[in-house]
Amino acid sequence: MDWQRQKILVTGGAGFLGANLCHALAARGARVTALDGFLFGGGANRLNLDGADVKLVEGDIRDLDLHNLCEGHDVIFNCAAQTSHMGGQRDPLSDIAINAMAQVRLIQAAREAAPNAIVVHASTRQLYGRPHYLPVDENHPVNPPDANGVSKFAGEQYWMLEHRVHNRPVVSLRLTNCYGPRLRIRDARQTFLGIWIRCVLENKPFEVWGGEQLRDLTYVDDVTEAFLTAAATPSCHGNIYNIGGSPPASLLELAEVTVRVAGNGATFIKKEFPTDRISIDIGSYHANDSAFRAATGWSPKIGLEEGIGRSLDWYRSRLAAYL
Ligand SMILES: NC(=O)c1ccc[n+]([C@@H]2O[C@H](COP(=O)([O-])OP(=O)(O)OC[C@H]3O[C@@H](n4cnc5c(N)ncnc54)[C@H](O)[C@@H]3O)[C@@H](O)[C@H]2O)c1
Repeated sequence: MDWQRQKILVTGGAGFLGANLCHALAARGARVTALDGFLFGGGANRLNLDGADVKLVEGDIRDLDLHNLCEGHDVIFNCAAQTSHMGGQRDPLSDIAINAMAQVRLIQAAREAAPNAIVVHASTRQLYGRPHYLPVDENHPVNPPDANGVSKFAGEQYWMLEHRVHNRPVVSLRLTNCYGPRLRIRDARQTFLGIWIRCVLENKPFEVWGGEQLRDLTYVDDVTEAFLTAAATPSCHGNIYNIGGSPPASLLELAEVTVRVAGNGATFIKKEFPTDRISIDIGSYHANDSAFRAATGWSPKIGLEEGIGRSLDWYRSRLAAYL
C-alpha cells in the first residue's frame, strides 16, 4: 500500500502502540491525525509523538464529535482503549463505556463520515482467558477472565458486525504482550516489562511474579508492521487474527535475558504472584499466528535480545520524561 497522502486516523494515538503507528505512517508520507483522551493510568504521553508530523486531537471517544473526527479518512487504526485489567475490575462501567459503548459511537460516526475507510482494530489475547491448549489459535474458546476481557471482546465483535452487516473492511488483531519504545514504564500497569525496564535503568532489582508463565512478547515495530500489513491486504478484511511474537519463554527466562542484555549488574527478585491478581491471571499464553502469517507473509523480525536491548537504549536518554 502506498501510504503517501493517505488520510489516516489513529485513535489512542498518543499511547504506546498508537504513537508508534503514527511515527511509522508519518514517515511514509501519510496525513495522520492522532486522537487521544490522555486517560489517567494509560500509556498516553505527549512525548510519544515528539518528532512526528501528526495532528493531535485531544478528546474522549465517549463524548467527542466523532463525525467530524472521522470525516474523509481512508484508514482508521483503532487503538483507544481502557487497557488495565485491575482497572477494569475496579471500575467495569468506565471500562465498558470506553471499550464497547464508545466503539459503537465510533462505528456509527464512521458509517456516515468515512463509509469506505479500512479499520484495523486492536484486540487482545486477554479475551481467551486461561488457555485450554497452547499455542492458542483463533478457534480457541473465548472465556474472558476479567471485565476488561469482556469489554474488549464486545468492542471487537461490534466492529466485526459492522463488517458483516455494512461491508466495512475491518480486521481485528488479537495482540499478545507488546513492548518497546513509548511503552508506559512508570509502573506495571501496561506490562511487566515496563517496570522491569524502569528498575534496570534505575539500578534497582525488578520483581518477577511467579516466573513459570510463558509469554511470546512482540516488539513494537513488528506490531506496527502487522497493523500496516493488515490494512493493506484486502483478503484479511473481515477476519480476526492472533498476532504473536518471539518464541515462548517463561518470565524467569525473560528476566534472565533482560539482565544479560542490560549488562549493568541488574538483578531481579522472584516473588509469589500477588493474591489480588490470581483470580484474573491467565497463566501461560502463546499465540498460534500462522493464519496471519499465511494471509500476509508477515512474521516478527525483532528477537528478544535485540528488542530488549533497543528498548533499554531508547529509554536511557529519556528516562526522566517517562517517570
Ligand atoms: N500493549 C499491549 O501489550 C497490548 C496487548 C493486547 C492488546 N492491546 C490493545 O492495543 C491497544 C493499544 O494499547 P496500548 O498498549 O497502546 O495502550 P495505551 O494505554 O498506551 O494506549 C491507549 C490509548 O488510548 C487512549 N484512550 C483510552 N481511552 C480513551 C478514550 N475514551 N478516548 C480517547 N482516547 C482514549 C489512552 O489515553 C491511551 O493513550 C488497546 O486497544 C489494547 O487493548 C495492547
